[in-house]
Parts: sequence; structure tokens; C-alpha cells
Amino acid sequence: MKIDVEAYEKAFLSITRAVLVLMLVAILAGVALHKGHIPHPAGRVAPTDVIRTPPFDHPGVTQVAPGRYHAVLVARMWTFQPNEVRVSAGSTVAFDVASPDVIHGFRINGTSVNAMVIPGEITHVEHTFREPGEYLFVCHEYCGIAHQTMYGKVVVTGRAAPAAGEEEREDLKEEGRE
Ligand code: CUA
Repeated sequence: MKIDVEAYEKAFLSITRAVLVLMLVAILAGVALHKGHIPHPAGRVAPTDVIRTPPFDHPGVTQVAPGRYHAVLVARMWTFQPNEVRVSAGSTVAFDVASPDVIHGFRINGTSVNAMVIPGEITHVEHTFREPGEYLFVCHEYCGIAHQTMYGKVVVTGRAAPAAGEEEREDLKEEGRE
């Protein structure tokens, strides 16, 4: 039996096929070139044990190397502990966030950091702060009556860090000024 397919229908089928292939290529390219992956927990910690489990028993910010910080945050109803993270410009900050109660969010304005904090899981995100300034971070998952009060800030001190390969030019600018 021969199925008669209209010419315009064939065209639509071809376009649909091309779009599907294009999307598949985009996904594969994202995985291969940009290390794209499905979000997964960096570790697990029982919500009832969060405040007794290292490193969450001592939330805070520590410098682990020049230009590298580790920020341990407890996200709870309705605050981040600590709610201020202080680092110097050009630093890469690794955040580990856990919740002892309900689902919270962790979004740092002006950056690509946007994650969920799910009870039982450790949320790990990293960001390099090149420009000095204050970066508000907020809980962006509704978590109860005082959800809107749940925020904090990353304070980036010092002068802007040169992007890779721009060091020399920064130095020249500096000399020219003085
Ligand atoms: Cu925590 Cu909204």
C-alpha cells in the first residue's frame, strides 16, 4: 500500500526532523563543550543532622588559597547563615549550601549562580567575582511566611581583577595614571 504524502506535508516533516537534529546537536555540544549536566547533589546530609555535620556545624567563609574561598552556608527558615560573604576581587568562591528544614533557593544577582537547596542534599556552586561590589543573594523558592526576608550579600572588595590575558594591559594603565 502506497501512502500518498502531500508535498507540503513532506516539507513540514523535513523541517521538524531538522529542528530535532539541531536540538540534539545543541544538547550534545552543551555537554561536550560547556560541561553541561543534569543538576545533581554534591553530597548528602540528613536535614536533621545539618547543624551537627561538618562543614555545616561551622558555617562561614574561609580562604583556602590565594584567590580561592570556601563559603559554607546554612539556608534555613528564613535566613542564610552567614548572610554576608566577604571576598577580594578576582576570587573564585566555592559555595556549599544545605537546608535543615524546607526547600530554599540560592540565587546570586549579577551572576549565573541559580540553584535550589533541597533538604537532604548539598548544593555546590562556584563563581569567580571579578568586579568589586555587593552582590545580593536571595532565596528564590517560596519557603514560608518570611520568605522575602531571606537574603544576604557577597561583598567583593578591592579593585577589579583583570580578565585572563589582560594583566599586562592593566599594568600599563596603572603606570600611565601615576
Ligand atoms: Cu528560603 Cu524562600
